Amino acid sequence: MKKILILGAGGQIGSELSARLRDIYGNDNVICSDLRPLSGPIYERGPIERIDSTQIMQIAAAVKKHNIDTIYNLAAILSATAELNPMLGWNVGIGSLVNSLEVARLFGCAVFTPSSIGAFGPSTPLDGTPQDTIQRPGTIYGVTKVTGELLSDYYFKRFGVDTRSVRFPGLISNVTLPGGGTTDYAVEIYYAAAKGEKFICPLGKDTMLDMMYMPDALDAAINLMEADPSKLIHRNSFNVAAMHFTPEEIYAEIKKHKPEFQMEYNVDPIKQSIADSWPNWMDDSCARNEWGFNPKFDLAAMTVDMLDILGKRYSK
Ligand code: NAD
Ligand code: SER
Repeated sequence: MKKILILGAGGQIGSELSARLRDIYGNDNVICSDLRPLSGPIYERGPIERIDSTQIMQIAAAVKKHNIDTIYNLAAILSATAELNPMLGWNVGIGSLVNSLEVARLFGCAVFTPSSIGAFGPSTPLDGTPQDTIQRPGTIYGVTKVTGELLSDYYFKRFGVDTRSVRFPGLISNVTLPGGGTTDYAVEIYYAAAKGEKFICPLGKDTMLDMMYMPDALDAAINLMEADPSKLIHRNSFNVAAMHFTPEEIYAEIKKHKPEFQMEYNVDPIKQSIADSWPNWMDDSCARNEWGFNPKFDLAAMTVDMLDILGKRYSK
């Protein structure tokens, strides 16, 4: 049975990955940690630690104490927030990654660190973005992601550390709100619709971006970490995608269920310029061929699920 440490477990992904990993591997075999205090039913199911992942000794102490063999490194500052404070984006993204890799090297752990569509930039082919292609991002977030991919491959080749990663697109979920990314609008729009509020969209109406529903993202992370290593030609990092749409298209999909829903545009120039530099859609055939990536939700199915869950939560 794996013994897992999650860094950054309190965020959009971590709050759901914590529950899923505990379902699979057992509550006591998954240690949830974050810089911020963790509270609530998900975390109370098993051990928690307060870890600042920029401090290597804190990670090492937890790995030693709990006999950890796998680290899910989720601590990061997302794209739009990082652009407002680039040094924070670099220090958290890279600090957490380097510390995870060094602790993994010393204690023999596997490491999962998400990369992102943000690892691409304006000179990348934006339609059908290949697995192996130009990566010259124009954001500090993207710089940390490309660095992370390279360092993770380096630790695998140089030291044999079992590093694996996916390039997540924008993730849509209904447990914890996203932490300051460019794709957050695609989550917030459902909350507005469920609450009966008008939505102000920060991206222009034709801005196409790759997206994925959280259940498919959790499957991707866990299935990659469980994959037969002899089948992996790539490691850091796999393109994974499930759907792509513009604000107009997600708005139209929601209106099929909520005809009264209203959206207006007030474009945020920072988010717009980031979004314009990211892929419209990625080619994820390597993930499908090498470890069986197979997402289940498209825009229509996700919209039904999101409005059902949030509708029950916010119904008066
Ligand atoms: P999030 O912002 O929701 O959560 C990040 C967590 O890290 C937060 O709980 C925060 O408290 C914690 N954290 C920040 N600084 C820390 C530190 N010094 N030590 C320990 N914890 C710290 O982010 P998320 O959406 O859950 O993303 C997790 C990972 O997935 C990140 O690497 C992110 O870049 C990547 N990713 C996310 C998306 C997405 O759409 N959510 C898409 C692509 C990639
Ligand atoms: N959702 C993330 C962001 O917008 C993509 O990595 O920052």
